[in-house]
Amino acid sequence: MVEEKKISEEENGNGPVLTAEQLAKEFKEHSVAEFFKKNRQMLGLTGKIKTLTTIVHEYVSNSLDACEESGILPEIEIKISELSEEYYEIMVKDNGPGLTKETLGKALGQLLAGTKFHRMMQMRGQQGIGASGCTMLSLMTTGKQIQVISGTAKHSPFMAEMTIDPKKNEPKIIKIEEIKKEFTGLAIKAKFKEVKYQKGEQSPLEYLRRTAIANPHAKIIFIDPFGEKTVFERTAKTIPAKPIEVKPHPKGITVDELLTMAKATQGRKISSFLKTDFDRTGDKAIEEISKNISFDMNKDPKKMSWEEAEEIIKSFKTTNFIAPSTEGLSAIGENRIEASLKSIVKPEFLSVLTRKPTVYKGGFAFQVEVAIAYGGNSGKSSGEKDEQTGQEIKRVEVMRFANRVPLLFDAGGCALSRAVQGLDWKRYGIKNLDNAPLTVFVHMLSVHIPYTGAGKQAVSDEEEVMEELRLALMQAARQIMRSIAGKRRLEEKEQKKKLFLKYATEVAIALHELTGKKKDEIEKKFHAIVLKKLKLEEKMEKELEQKTDEEIAAELEKEAEKEKKGKKNKKSAIKENDGEE
Ligand SMILES: Nc1ncnc2c1ncn2[C@@H]1O[C@H](COP(=O)(O)OP(=O)(O)OP(=O)(O)O)[C@@H](O)[C@H]1O
Ligand SMILES: [Mg+2]
Repeated sequence: MVEEKKISEEENGNGPVLTAEQLAKEFKEHSVAEFFKKNRQMLGLTGKIKTLTTIVHEYVSNSLDACEESGILPEIEIKISELSEEYYEIMVKDNGPGLTKETLGKALGQLLAGTKFHRMMQMRGQQGIGASGCTMLSLMTTGKQIQVISGTAKHSPFMAEMTIDPKKNEPKIIKIEEIKKEFTGLAIKAKFKEVKYQKGEQSPLEYLRRTAIANPHAKIIFIDPFGEKTVFERTAKTIPAKPIEVKPHPKGITVDELLTMAKATQGRKISSFLKTDFDRTGDKAIEEISKNISFDMNKDPKKMSWEEAEEIIKSFKTTNFIAPSTEGLSAIGENRIEASLKSIVKPEFLSVLTRKPTVYKGGFAFQVEVAIAYGGNSGKSSGEKDEQTGQEIKRVEVMRFANRVPLLFDAGGCALSRAVQGLDWKRYGIKNLDNAPLTVFVHMLSVHIPYTGAGKQAVSDEEEVMEELRLALMQAARQIMRSIAGKRRLEEKEQKKKLFLKYATEVAIALHELTGKKKDEIEKKFHAIVLKKLKLEEKMEKELEQKTDEEIAAELEKEAEKEKKGKKNKKSAIKENDGEE
């Protein structure tokens, strides 16, 4: 037996040295709840201001998701009260489907539990950690439970007090009792410490303002800690078309996800699993895959090994699939965006554009919507005043959204901001974007948003997404600048005309005195010269405008050409897969 060599504390320099056996005694397991307790930054729950906004975001997103799933026009009330310094109570009440007594615990008191994972559907929630994370944060910072009132369409409402047991990642229901009250929906009241309410761009109020813009079908009522009430009335009277749940496309799947799905499938053979659980996997595609793998496709998918899953994923890469269906997407739509921006931002000029759905990474359907608002309440306040006019100087305001959820943090690392910053704004008459009184609205919707982290605050830059954003912004910028330039030109021209004509009259009088010629005739000639000059200027401006239009048209044509090619490929792929779809 090899004698264990003992190293003195001095030799080690870091205190006593532990053997593997001693370390084994230290070996512990911890629950997912404990993990997130130590890593709350992963849930976006860091920073006093950010944490408060994130809590509001989690509850409000859940309310909107739940209402839409149940076909209810959402009415959500949010109240934030200050209990003492950096200690607040948040109440969020909705008119949604509510939770049953049986699901309440798991929904709000267990991390990674919910109704939304692995659903290829455009929803706000994805992971099952939002609301339950808030329950845990409340316990962590105050030691208190949360209060819930829930009423469903079938049962009279009940009141519950509950929390989470982080060690077991299990809900702990402290009290539950029926109450005599007419109510359907869910109301949650929770207390939090180490948070702070502050007005500004990252505040709950701004979050709700943007939520109202992207969700014109929702009525949102907010009462801030000072008792000030803001109501965002709905500008759309119907719920958006419910997105359809689509199956995952093979090009968007990882080895790990394939194995997880294989374990849960009803299919008895790998071939039938691939055919029924994925989008666009017809007989031809299955045949192509089977040629590129070293094992039998009749094998039980539940017995699939990691190496075999790797082989399948590798073969997916070279297989010719039809692009994923885009039915899982539900855009806000140009008319609705226009109505809500007009009601909330009240701009002088507005251009809105919803692009057609397309695909990124070959496996995920997505779509972009942009709007540019100018004048009125567009832009954000700089706190400074123009010395000459005394009017407030405005700065550009970029509103980012993913699946109708406003993104207020991590703008620097987000593809949506980069797309806005990357546009050559000078081409559209904006010399310095930062100092322009503009509100730029950018929305990406997808069955799978490529977030850069679990905090879901920034989108990663996928090539196809960036290209769609560029084209959309280009078109919208052109449109708005045309309207602004048109109006400005008209005003300037009128002023110039007035001024020139005034001088023409005066010069005519002087010339009449000097030359003795008739004043009226001189004046008439002068007027003709002024009008000719103004016409010439107008012609030059029009030519310049046409040049820019031609450049944009050329870019769009290039894009249409690309699209045509894509369609051709798709058609030939359909032909190859004939009889399968
Ligand atoms: N207001 C509500 N009305 C009805 N059901 C709700 C409500 N809030 C939460 N739920 C249910 O509780 C589950 C868990 O919510 P939670 O916010 O923890 O996760 P999630 O929304 O599924 O995903 P994410 O972590 O991305 O938010 C939801 O999936 C939903 O089924
Ligand atoms: Mg959620």
